[in-house]
Amino acid sequence: MLFNSRVVALILAIVVAGVTTAFLSLVPDVTVQSLLVAGLLSFAATYLLVFVTFEFLVFKEIGEIYKVLNKMRNKDFSFTESEEDASTSTNPLKRINREILTFGVNRNKEIEDLRKLEVFRREFLADVSHELKTPVFAAQGFVHTLLDGAVDDKKVRKRFLKRAAKSLDNLDSLIHDLLTLSQIETGEIKMHFEHFDIVVTAREVIDQLENKAEKKGLTIRMDTSYPDPIFVHADAIRIYRVLVNLVSNAIKYTDKGSIQVGFEVEDDMVQVFVRDTGVGIPPEDLDRIFERFFRVDKSRSKESGGTGLGLAIVKHVVEAHNANINVVSTVNEGSNFSFKLPIGQSTAEMEEEAKLELEMMSQDR
Ligand SMILES: Nc1ncnc2c1ncn2[C@@H]1O[C@H](COP(=O)(O)OP(=O)(O)OP(=O)(O)O)[C@@H](O)[C@H]1O
Ligand SMILES: [Mg+2]
Repeated sequence: MLFNSRVVALILAIVVAGVTTAFLSLVPDVTVQSLLVAGLLSFAATYLLVFVTFEFLVFKEIGEIYKVLNKMRNKDFSFTESEEDASTSTNPLKRINREILTFGVNRNKEIEDLRKLEVFRREFLADVSHELKTPVFAAQGFVHTLLDGAVDDKKVRKRFLKRAAKSLDNLDSLIHDLLTLSQIETGEIKMHFEHFDIVVTAREVIDQLENKAEKKGLTIRMDTSYPDPIFVHADAIRIYRVLVNLVSNAIKYTDKGSIQVGFEVEDDMVQVFVRDTGVGIPPEDLDRIFERFFRVDKSRSKESGGTGLGLAIVKHVVEAHNANINVVSTVNEGSNFSFKLPIGQSTAEMEEEAKLELEMMSQDR
């Protein structure tokens, strides 16, 4: 650099020495010798002062700023120890340096996040179109076959119409799940918290799905250690959907044995669990089953009509209740899904009503 600290110090020292000797020469009786000494002294002092100031305070820090810019150009966004300490420094140049690096790090993170989001969006679109194609093509195939003549045969007609209807039902539930997920994610769906009896809710879920389980030769049991109502403070409809999803999965992914829905009350919380004796989930997939469209065994899930959205919805709903969904699973032994809800309040009247409802439900069985 032509304009470095040495050159600046030299120019300033010459100017100061010149001005000093010029002023001194105006004083009467000053010898040439003392003018020379004064000039040399002021030159040396100014040179040293300016050089040290520039070299150690200004140019060094500007050099550091260049280094940081170079570092960022090479996509290195790590903080060195001195850069970490700079936030508390009184030197403004050091602070500017750190600000530049922090700014670069933040921008870089934003770019990375956007990139990830873009990949996620592309994968999501590909998954959605793939999942939509399956039922649409199936229904289209059945309807075209009917139009091509199969409609005349009464037996074939009924079978094909039934299959087309099933495909359209699948399409309907897929679109419904997608809408629910996107509404929860954008915060369009607000949770409606109320005090209700979770035992009654679980009983209703079991009643709704018992037939399905029986068809596979499975039994659904309700944990009998809590025969009394357990009031929780949560969104009743969404918790009902969560239990329907968990129990449906338990039925879907269990070939023999039983499914158990139960509760464990701990202080002011109740843990709700759904256990099965099914195929279980490999440990490496445990974290991924809550992702949209993730299925452990795509072919098996497809047979049972799964799209991999159920647990993504469950996770969102449970998290909207400030809780986590937990899963413990052993391959070929079974799985246990659980989550916690806060205990709610109840009046004597509500308790009485819930007890009556439970009694009526068990009489109906
Ligand atoms: N109880 C369970 N036992 C074994 N595997 C399970 C169980 N519950 C979920 N899984 C695995 O996790 C995957 C994701 O579950 P999820 O409920 O999200 O999707 P799905 O049941 O395939 O489809 P959907 O619920 O959208 O109809 C399933 O495909 C299955 O592989
Ligand atoms: Mg499911």
